[in-house]
Amino acid sequence: MSRLTDSFHRTIDYMRISITDRCNLRCIYCMPPEGLVPIEHKDILSYEEIVRILRVAVDIGIRKIRITGGEPLVRRNVSYLIGSIKNIEGIEDLSLTTNGIHLEQYAEELVDAGLDRVNISLDSLRPDRYREITRGGDIDMVLNGIEAAEKAGLRPIKINMVPICGLNNDEIGEFAKLTLKSPYQVRFIEFMPFDTNMWSREKFIAADEIKSIVEGIGSLTPANIRKSGPARYFRFNGARGVIGFISPLSNRFCGECSRLRLTADGKLRPCLFSETEIDLKPALRGGAPDDEIERLIKLSIEAKPEGHNLQIQNTELRTLINANKDYKRPMSRIGG
Ligand code: 5AD
Ligand code: SF4
Repeated sequence: MSRLTDSFHRTIDYMRISITDRCNLRCIYCMPPEGLVPIEHKDILSYEEIVRILRVAVDIGIRKIRITGGEPLVRRNVSYLIGSIKNIEGIEDLSLTTNGIHLEQYAEELVDAGLDRVNISLDSLRPDRYREITRGGDIDMVLNGIEAAEKAGLRPIKINMVPICGLNNDEIGEFAKLTLKSPYQVRFIEFMPFDTNMWSREKFIAADEIKSIVEGIGSLTPANIRKSGPARYFRFNGARGVIGFISPLSNRFCGECSRLRLTADGKLRPCLFSETEIDLKPALRGGAPDDEIERLIKLSIEAKPEGHNLQIQNTELRTLINANKDYKRPMSRIGG
């Protein structure tokens, strides 16, 4: 089997594909109230174009695929795309990140199409606060979506929460406690600065701090689960689920990075935190052969930087806000 390695000896086998920059929510840490100007339809890759890129990518070493957005389930006929991707030989893991609003509606057909699992973004368990954070979201739809995902056999269910000081940090414990009775992986992700969000040092909570808050409820032991990403996992005694901590800022995991991102408008993005992008659209739409797509994918892997410099040293943030000025593409256009 072919294998892709970058200039820093990292194996690249994971591609995240944003299929739309549109979203049915307007989370306050992601978008301005009026939303963002969406990418024009003609610039968005068709499902056929995505599948073509993936065929080439899987042939040269990509093994894991995640579909993201915006919110992927607002794009029409996602199950068709899932089915087409599933048909590509060599894919070992096919997952999707969603805010869960449409999950109840689609869980079963996604499973039938071949989806392996979902990550659900959820930042509050309180209906009023959820509505406030998402600017209008109905938490019952998400909770029903989680239940439907479980019933449909999408496993493991991962719930991603971004703790933000003064907004939802008082719910860290409640989220952690979900793992006592349910077999979920509840993951806390450090709040990252982007151009379009309201990041500040005061709102940021480092993973170690989050972990201490969780340990205030009960002691944690390292969980030995099969993991692929950068999360560190623990569990409460006797709990059915596990708790993960993801620390892109306080504990950079760039050394283990295995991913490449494809934006909805066809740009390969070697790193979430770098503006470098390699445009596949001219090749795709200009009649280029697969060899050219392959060359561009390899080029973008070559362009992967060793790491980002959004580091916190000794839990003190460096000049994050300055660094932040470089990030022109908002999170909803990259897909996390
Ligand atoms: N920091 C951390 N996570 C973020 N997400 C969106 N914006 C940020 C941010 N600034 C998360 C969402 C979702 C995933 C796609 O990215 O909550 O879980
Ligand atoms: Fe939509 Fe996700 Fe951004 Fe919320 S964080 S507005 S769900 S893209």
